[in-house]
Amino acid sequence: MSAAGPDDPSERHHARYRPGEVAAEPDGRLHSPTFLRNNPPIIAALAPWLSGRVGMALEIGSGTGQQAAAFALAFPDLEWWPSEPDEIHRASIAAWWRALGLPEREPLALDAATDWAASDEVKALGPLSVVISLNVIHITPFAVARGIVSGAGKALVAGGLLIFYGPFREFGEHTGAGNEAFDARLRAENPEWGVRDTREIIDLADVAGLEFAAFIRMPANNRILIFRRP
Ligand SMILES: C[S@@+](CC[C@H](N)C(=O)[O-])C[C@H]1O[C@@H](n2cnc3c(N)ncnc32)[C@H](O)[C@@H]1O
Repeated sequence: MSAAGPDDPSERHHARYRPGEVAAEPDGRLHSPTFLRNNPPIIAALAPWLSGRVGMALEIGSGTGQQAAAFALAFPDLEWWPSEPDEIHRASIAAWWRALGLPEREPLALDAATDWAASDEVKALGPLSVVISLNVIHITPFAVARGIVSGAGKALVAGGLLIFYGPFREFGEHTGAGNEAFDARLRAENPEWGVRDTREIIDLADVAGLEFAAFIRMPANNRILIFRRP
C-alpha cells in the first residue's frame, strides 16, 4: 500500500493543462507535472511490445503531447498520431512535435466518447497497429473508456494492440491508499469520473472482440493493460 502524498504521481493528474497551472514555454509547449517521472518506466515496460512494431499508432487523449513525442522517439518504426479534443492541448502537442524535430503532424481532434473509428481522419490512417491511452479513462466519463475500447475493436489490424496506462482497481480492490484517496477526490469533483476496475475494462474488451494480453504493474501503483485484436 502506498500513502497518498506528493510522491504519488497519481495525485497530480489534471483533467486539463493550462498555462499558469502547469509550466509552459512561450511556443505553447505545456509540461505535464507527471510526465518526467512516469514516462521512462512506461517506455521500458512497452519496449518488448512496441520495439520493431510497424504501422499506425494512435494516442487518445494526448494532453501536453509529451508522451506521444517520447513514443515517437523511442519507437520510430511506428507512425505516431497524437489526438486530443482540447484545442490548447493540441497546440502544445504540435509545439512539442516541432521542438523535437519530429515529422510535421497535425494532432487529431478526437473525442473518444464518439464513434471516432468511423471518422474520416481515423479512416484515412488505415488499420491501426496500436491504440494507446494514458491517464485518461479515470478522469473522463465511462463513455470515454467504452468509446476507446469499442473504437479500437473496429480500427485495430489483426494482431494490433490496445494499451491503457494509469491507476486501476483490481477486481474491486484499490491497489493502494493513494489511489483510493485519488478515486474519492475524482468522484467528488465529478461523479462520472473515477478509477476504473480492470474487470470493467476486460469486459468492454470482450464485447469489442479484443483479447486480454498483459497486465503490468508500474511504479506508484499505476498499471498497464494490454489487449490484442486476434
Ligand atoms: C490527465 S490528462 C492525460 C494526458 C496524457 N495522456 C498524459 O498522460 O499526460 C487527460 C486527457 O484526457 C483528455 N480528454 C478528456 N476528455 C476526452 C475525450 N472525450 N476523448 C479524448 N480525450 C479526452 C483531456 O483533454 C486530457 O488531455
